[in-house]
Amino acid sequence: MNKEKEAKFYELLKKNKELQNIINKEIEKNREKDKIMFSQNKMAALGEMLNNISHQWRQPLMELSSLFIPLEGKINLGVKVEQDEIKESIEKLNDITKYMSNTIDDFRNFFATNKEISEFKLLEQINIAYKLMSGSFKANNISLEIFVSKNPKVLGYKNEYTQVLINLLNNAKDALIQRKIENPKIIIRVKEYEKEIILNIEDNAGGIDVSPLEEIFKPFFTHGKKNGTGIGLFMSKLIIENNMHGKLLVNNTNNGAEFKIITYKKDQK
Ligand SMILES: Nc1ncnc2c1ncn2[C@@H]1O[C@H](COP(=O)(O)OP(=O)(O)OP(=O)(O)O)[C@@H](O)[C@H]1O
Ligand SMILES: [Mg+2]
Repeated sequence: MNKEKEAKFYELLKKNKELQNIINKEIEKNREKDKIMFSQNKMAALGEMLNNISHQWRQPLMELSSLFIPLEGKINLGVKVEQDEIKESIEKLNDITKYMSNTIDDFRNFFATNKEISEFKLLEQINIAYKLMSGSFKANNISLEIFVSKNPKVLGYKNEYTQVLINLLNNAKDALIQRKIENPKIIIRVKEYEKEIILNIEDNAGGIDVSPLEEIFKPFFTHGKKNGTGIGLFMSKLIIENNMHGKLLVNNTNNGAEFKIITYKKDQK
């Protein structure tokens, strides 16, 4: 190589390195953005959770507040209170507070930052998602049917998977309420194949009126909602496709929207 060529070569090398640095910085910035969005999505979920805690606590709180009324009445009237009666009330009190404390544990576990990849049972995560949402489902008369033939195990991040389920359930719930659907219903079906597990979640809210449908996965895309941020599905796709190398797909059926989460079993990808 002559001197001039050599100089040019080093110049190119330098430029390449500079470009690589710029690219790396941009990638890092994008990662930061994703992280921020992820926590925003969790905060939105947190808001929903608090809503659900208050629904789930209303009933036991009512029971608690009326638990000792008969005893108090007797004492006020000077009527003798039997030991058994007191014991029964105390047992009820213990049951109710245990239930309330379990609800809090469920929420706390969900929000724990569990970043470990693991093999988890799908049905357990579906149950956790349902438990966390059941308050507002009941309040809106939404029924949830779950069909799981076996109880397949998925390899991935279990809390993130639950977060995706919650995002999808929330969207279905929003559409069902907003469109005032009679007999609102969500069906979850899980099928296990040789290498993959497909979870289907379908509602009867009439479907998604966005074209092309894939628009809904774009960040900040929200449509027909007052308080939508448009993060839910973007985040869900990121979790399933980037973090768990699966697929999150959508289509409309005769009844409503249908989402498909495809994930893989251990040692399959
Ligand atoms: N099950 C569904 N039925 C009808 N429309 C849906 C359904 N799921 C999603 N959509 C549409 O897709 C849009 C994007 O959903 P996404 O969850 O990303 O954002 P969002 O629900 O508007 O806001 P948030 O960030 O609070 O979740 C929704 O605004 C809605 O128009
Ligand atoms: Mg949403």
